This record gives sequence, structure tokens and C-alpha cells, in this order.
Amino acid sequence: MPDKKLRLGVLISGSGTNLQAIIDACAEQFLDAEVVVVVSDKEAAYGLERARKAHIAAVWVDRTAYTTFRDYNHAILFALRTHEVDLVVMAGYMRLLTREVLDAFPMRVVNIHPALLPSFPGASGIHDAFDHGVKITGVTVHFATDKFDEGPIIAQEAVPVLEGDTAESLEARIHEAEHRLYPAALQLIAEGRVSIEGRKARIIG
Ligand code: GAR
Repeated sequence: MPDKKLRLGVLISGSGTNLQAIIDACAEQFLDAEVVVVVSDKEAAYGLERARKAHIAAVWVDRTAYTTFRDYNHAILFALRTHEVDLVVMAGYMRLLTREVLDAFPMRVVNIHPALLPSFPGASGIHDAFDHGVKITGVTVHFATDKFDEGPIIAQEAVPVLEGDTAESLEARIHEAEHRLYPAALQLIAEGRVSIEGRKARIIG
């Protein structure tokens, strides 16, 4: 087990309930890591407030302040480097990262998606799966690439769609699963138990 805690930089765009689950897991020492910076592309993202309440650096990077997507990503990279981040954790961050950011953190950028990838990628995975009428959906944690919701899968949890479910009741159970699965998957990485073989992530031990 490494003696230094894994330094997490969490990227968000919204309410940050996954961020909160990660902060809580670190505080409860279930996750051997610390969130050192939270970066949002949205000034009003409640996740920034969650970071401030936990005395974590909260950074808003305003997309409209940069002419190009490349420059905007460069500013994100600057924030991550300034805080000496080891692992970049996308938690409801609804943009792609450029090659520059991904190359700065090779196989050190992870994402969570509220469906069983490769099914139902995109911004509305829960509703898309519900509308399709699947009987089982779930949650995926994976390494991020330069494509939305693609990359080697680290962990998945199935969530059944129940008779009488609405999109909202399903969404609530998916979020519960996310809040369990993301800290657990990050702990596997913190323990050095995740390796990559070709297109697949492998869990060691
Ligand atoms: C989560 O359900 C996450 O899986 C999803 O955004 C939500 C953010 O919620 N991400 C995606 O759909 C990525 N394609 P949160 O801000 O409360 O953590």
C-alpha cells in the first residue's frame, strides 16, 4: 500500500453528489485518498459549494473566457498541476478533455456513467435506458479517453429496472449505486490494483 495518499482532482458540472460521496469516503477512511481540488465549468455548480464546505480548493474555469477549447483545457490542466493531482476524477463533468490533459495523466483519468456501458452513453443515460425498456441497467466506472463515455471498464454495478419504476425512482437507485461504486473503484486504484491490458482494465488480487 503506498504511504502517500492519492491526490484527487475532481471535475464536475453539476450538483456533485458523487463528489460528496468521494469526500465522505475519504473522511471515513474507506478511501485512501484526498480531494485536493474541485474544478467546474459551471460557476453555479453546487459541487463547488460542497468543496468549499469541505475546505477543498474550488476552481471555476469559465469556458467563455477562452477563445479555443484547447486553451480552456490548458487552464484546467494548470489547475490540476497546481494542486499536484495524481488522479483526475470526472464526476458529472459533461465535457471531453483534450489530448493535452489526457496525455498529462496517462490512464489516470476516470469517469462515472449512469448506465452499463457500452449501452446508453451520453448525457441522459438513465432516461435513455428507461425509455428503451431495459430490465437491467446500472453504473460504470471507466478510464476516460477522448470520446464520451468510452475507455477500459474498471467496475460496473447492475441496477434492475423494477415493475412500477418511474425514471425518477430508477434514477434514485442508480445514484445510490454510483455513490457506492465510485469510492470503491477509486480505492482499487489507490491500492495499485488496476492495470491495463490492451483495451481492458484488469483488477489484480
Ligand atoms: C451522475 O449520474 C454521473 O454518472 C453522470 O452525471 C451525474 C452527475 O451527478 N455522468 C454522465 O452522465 C456522464 N456521461 P452528480 O453531479 O450529482 O454527481
